[in-house]
Amino acid sequence: MSVVDDVKQKIDIVDVIGQYVTLKKAGRNFKALCPFHSEKTPSFIVFPDQGTWHCFGSCGTGGDVFTFLMKRENIDFGEALRRLAQRAGVELVRESPGEDAERKRLREILAMAAAHYHYLLKNNPAAQHARDYLAKRFIAPETIEQFELGYSLDDWHATESYLVGKNFSTRDLEAAGLVIQREGGGQYDRFRGRLMFPIRNRSGEVIGFGARTLTGEEPKYLNSPQTALFDKSGTLYGLDLAKDAIRAQNLAVIVEGYMDVIGAHQGGFQNVVASLGTALTEKQLGLLKRLTNRYALALDPDAAGEEATKRGLQVAREALGRKSVPVPMGAGLIGFEERLEAELLVIPMPPGKDPDELLHDDPAQWANLVEHAEPLVDFNFRVMTQDLDLKTARDKSAAVKRLVPIIQEIGDAVQRAHYTQQLARLVQTPEQTIAQQVAGRVVRRAQRAIEPSEQAVTPAPRAESKLEEYLLTLALRTPEHLRRIEFLEPEDFVEAEYRALFFALSDSMAQADLLDRDAFRESLDESLRPLCDQLLERARQLPEMDEPDLAREIQTVAYRLRLQRDKSELARVEVILRDQDDERTTEDETALRARVDFLGRRIIESQKALSARTLFKPRAYHIGMM
Ligand code: UTP
Ligand code: MN
Repeated sequence: MSVVDDVKQKIDIVDVIGQYVTLKKAGRNFKALCPFHSEKTPSFIVFPDQGTWHCFGSCGTGGDVFTFLMKRENIDFGEALRRLAQRAGVELVRESPGEDAERKRLREILAMAAAHYHYLLKNNPAAQHARDYLAKRFIAPETIEQFELGYSLDDWHATESYLVGKNFSTRDLEAAGLVIQREGGGQYDRFRGRLMFPIRNRSGEVIGFGARTLTGEEPKYLNSPQTALFDKSGTLYGLDLAKDAIRAQNLAVIVEGYMDVIGAHQGGFQNVVASLGTALTEKQLGLLKRLTNRYALALDPDAAGEEATKRGLQVAREALGRKSVPVPMGAGLIGFEERLEAELLVIPMPPGKDPDELLHDDPAQWANLVEHAEPLVDFNFRVMTQDLDLKTARDKSAAVKRLVPIIQEIGDAVQRAHYTQQLARLVQTPEQTIAQQVAGRVVRRAQRAIEPSEQAVTPAPRAESKLEEYLLTLALRTPEHLRRIEFLEPEDFVEAEYRALFFALSDSMAQADLLDRDAFRESLDESLRPLCDQLLERARQLPEMDEPDLAREIQTVAYRLRLQRDKSELARVEVILRDQDDERTTEDETALRARVDFLGRRIIESQKALSARTLFKPRAYHIGMM
């Protein structure tokens, strides 16, 4: 559940609005004098069931609890979220301004250190053996530039002196992970006489270093410690240089070493990143999820059968696990289907070679291996049964126990049937027996899914919010089409966060023709970023559509959104009109009737627009995602 949902669930909209206006119960709802325009009789209604409010008087606005506070206090969405979160006792993970300044200083230090190490590598006589080493490993000068490789002098205080000379304190240098405090006092440089690999975040800022020995010293690589900037398990080496290619090729290749990444990029394979010497973590996959849903792992062939590798793959499967994905059905209808979100592939490395060597010796073979990467399910079939003797009853049963959960996770029914058959053949057991096991688990899983109490208290998402979400997904996919739906108004969105994100996107498109998605995300208040990330990811998972179809789809969805909100407002106004209300003046009555007329006209307009569109009904899309 998102923080926003969490807050909404814990906050009573009646309490919040009740602090500003005097609410009177009216049936299941509450009414008050509208705080946004002056009136004598109440036309401002709060609908607690839906968590929304609406003014049926002359201002005609409405929204959810966030929108109310934003309008009333004249604050932005982020501020409204912060206030309501505090009220609800929901913790928002935020950085204080002090921490921000500290992180900024650390970034400056690390950037300066990287440039300095790089300068030393290229110019210092003491770095000759490092230059020779790189030449021996076939690293070209341009690659040294691109990765800003460097050299740390074999000296206890060289880095420290240099940076202290730039007015940083030893304390800062320690916080940046560059010097180590000695127990008895004093300090010394962490990296000495090593080849330096700056490690960058996805935006390209240096956040740490990997430092390779040139003399066979242990450890082979010394890495920056955990710092305010550097979290090894949440970083992928090379991501800053690889992200565009990963998105463009819809494939992320994950290797093990710094040198493998460098070799790949030098060989023209730009979609390659490395985990930092650990099994792939959920956080690392989280970084990639925004770019692609296809991952190929180049595993050390000797390690492929090892427990650690299997565990790593397990993490990958779980992290990328099942998700509901929006499936456009044309004419603005969307379905959500449960899918294994990702396609995981394993690149079979020839024995005794790591990617770096292969990339140098035979780049064509690398391309070929990536092309023919093995689906993880096939890989699992092989690896998870290699220690079994499938002629024995006991091991047959073990194989089934290990592989059934994997088959069960496959989202695509045809593929699931394929692997069910394959397992049946493998253990020479009637297919029906295996199919029952697979189905058995499905049933249990489905039952579990409705049991948890969390499910019971979570209000079902309103139809509007699904449409709002889908509209934004489409808009993020092709923001150029936003000008086709300029008719949308803030009131067309019920949920504040969708409203805020939609208009932030429109604003940013009004300023530039092309959307830089990363820059857009950065420009948002941090409270909106999780939603933005989630929708960017969904946008990426949208099935292929032609541009004209996309343009039509986004307009269709916009009209449906308006139609839906108009219909629900109309229904509410009619309920209000039907209510006997002695306090209602003729003026109010007239205003409400005028609103009914207005909504009625607009509903007909939207319906016309929508039925005109169905003449060009887009074909049904077939989605071949695994
Ligand atoms: P490798 O030993 O395969 O490194 O370790 P490599 O990058 O291929 O380097 P070369 O080709 O031997 O020069 C894989 C990764 O594991 C991490 C590093 O991230 C390394 O790139 N590692 C390895 C460490 O962090 N510390 C170590 O001592 C060894
Ligand atoms: Mn290597």
